[in-house]
Parts: sequence; C-alpha cells; structure tokens
Amino acid sequence: MKISASFLSSKNIPSDLVRLNDTDVDYIHVDIMDGKFVQNKTMPFREMRHIYRYTSKRLDVHLMVSDPIKYIPLYAELNTEYITFHVEVDQDIEKALNLIHQYSIKAGLAICPNTKVSELIPYLPYLDMILVMSVEPGKGGQSFIEGTDKKILEVRALLNEYHVQAVINVDGGINDQTRVQCGECDILTAGSYIISSDNFQEKISSLR
Ligand code: DX5
Ligand code: ZN
Repeated sequence: MKISASFLSSKNIPSDLVRLNDTDVDYIHVDIMDGKFVQNKTMPFREMRHIYRYTSKRLDVHLMVSDPIKYIPLYAELNTEYITFHVEVDQDIEKALNLIHQYSIKAGLAICPNTKVSELIPYLPYLDMILVMSVEPGKGGQSFIEGTDKKILEVRALLNEYHVQAVINVDGGINDQTRVQCGECDILTAGSYIISSDNFQEKISSLR
C-alpha cells in the first residue's frame, strides 16, 4: 500500500515536512481550498510554493476549488506527480484533465461521499487516479464515513468494467483501524493520524 501524507492539520508546516522527508512516505498530499468549493481557505500559491524547500517527495495535489483550470498551471510547476480536482465542479472537466496531462502530470478526479460513482464514467479514459473522499472535503481530523468500503468496491468494479488502469486513493479519517475498510485501494491519504504523532514513521508503517 502506498501512503500519501496530508499536512493540512500541521501547526508547523516546514518542520513537519522535514520530518516527513525522513520517512518512507510515498507522497506529500497538498490540500488546496479556495473558500468557494469548500468554506475553508488554504494559503495562496505564492506561499505554498515554498514547500519545495522542505521536501524532496513527489506531490499529490488535491484541489478543493471551484476553478481548477486556474490552479493547475501553478501546481504543475512544483515536483508534482498527481493533480486531482473534484468531479462535482461546474467546469469543463475534460478540458481540465487534458490540461494536467499537457504538463506531463498524472490526472485525478475526486469524488465526495454523496456523489454517485457513475458520475466518473464520462472521464474514465482520462484518469490516472480516483480520489475517494471518506469524509466531506474541507477540513482535517474528521471521522471516516462508514460505507466508504462499499464505494471503493464500486469504483474498483467500474475500473475493471471499463478496463481503466487508474489507481484508487482514499482520503479522510484514515488511521490503523479504518484502513482495514480500504483493502481495495492503492494509496491511503492520512493527515492528522500521522501529523499528531511523535513518530511519523511508526504511523506510516502501520498503514501499509
Ligand atoms: C479533507 C482533506 C484531507 C484531510 C485528511 O478535506 O482533503 O486530505 O486533510 O486529513 P485527516 O486524515 O485528518 O482526515
Ligand atoms: Zn485531501
């Protein structure tokens, strides 16, 4: 199992990124919020871009924004492996996915707990990742929503049916208990479970 670490709940981002860099974590999950798609707002790109100073890990960027096309060129500049935005946005999704690929970055679509997996069908040929939200997007430290295991199985069945190679990433409320409900996924994204610990590596290892 690959692990992506979210620093959304961090009280000291530079120091936590340096500590994460000393672990075997696979990706740094960068949560971006615009105050429109979700209520909260994260720091602007001109500040966020400095994370490259503290980590050499590849980035897994999660855009919780209503206008992904505005953000894609910015985050494409960093050491980014994946850029993911939400299937619920009212924008030309195919165009945004193509834009990500134009930067030779892998493209993902995130899906909220109450959105049907069938919403993903039109975009499956363009997807490298599906980010299954196991909490409502907007903040760290929430509880894993029961029933997400079923949703992950539905996404896996869809990928098989349409012969799509995309990876499944599960995000929100992940810890060593809830991980057992995510057996059918490829990447687990965890924030507060890792960041609130004194021993990041121990928590990361417990999720693999
Ligand atoms: C929620 C974010 C998640 C969150 C994960 O809106 O997309 O990435 O930071 O944090 P935990 O693991 O604390 O739920
Ligand atoms: Zn996230």
